[in-house]
Amino acid sequence: MSKTHVKMTVNGKAVEALAEPRTLLIHFLREELNLTGPHIGCETSHCGACTVDIDGKSVKSCTVFVGQAEGADVTTIEGIAQPDGTLHAVQEAFRQHHGLQCGFCTPGMITRAWRLLQENPNPSEEEIRFGISGNLCRCTGYQNIVKAIQAAAEELSVKEAAE
Ligand code: FES
Ligand code: FES
Repeated sequence: MSKTHVKMTVNGKAVEALAEPRTLLIHFLREELNLTGPHIGCETSHCGACTVDIDGKSVKSCTVFVGQAEGADVTTIEGIAQPDGTLHAVQEAFRQHHGLQCGFCTPGMITRAWRLLQENPNPSEEEIRFGISGNLCRCTGYQNIVKAIQAAAEELSVKEAAE
């Protein structure tokens, strides 16, 4: 199949590349842009390891063709920390509350949690569990992931009140 130009914004930078339109976005991100934070777990839209943010929504990037992301604003786990490397409150909370073990699900889980807290800055435990239900973790039993997201929500609300 012939390649076409695709253009999008990824982690705040304009990106232009040649790609077959049927290339999955996760492959484009990992193989063309070297953004290997989003992982490939199932490649069949079940696990959420490939979760990225597209135009303000959490999306499993193994379910999107690169051509469908034309013109989109994409954020991956690499774009969530500050440019100077300071971790986002969600990342810091996962670190402090042991929200990961092997780490395979973590980039997708954090990217989803980051968006969840923008959709609902003060979620109940039930809303957190529902909000991350598209992201599977085979290690943690979810308890510390939920604690981390609750802690991040508190931290972000304290920061917002101080601003
Ligand atoms: S790799 Fe995309 S959902 Fe599992
Ligand atoms: S920390 Fe291992 S899959 Fe979630």
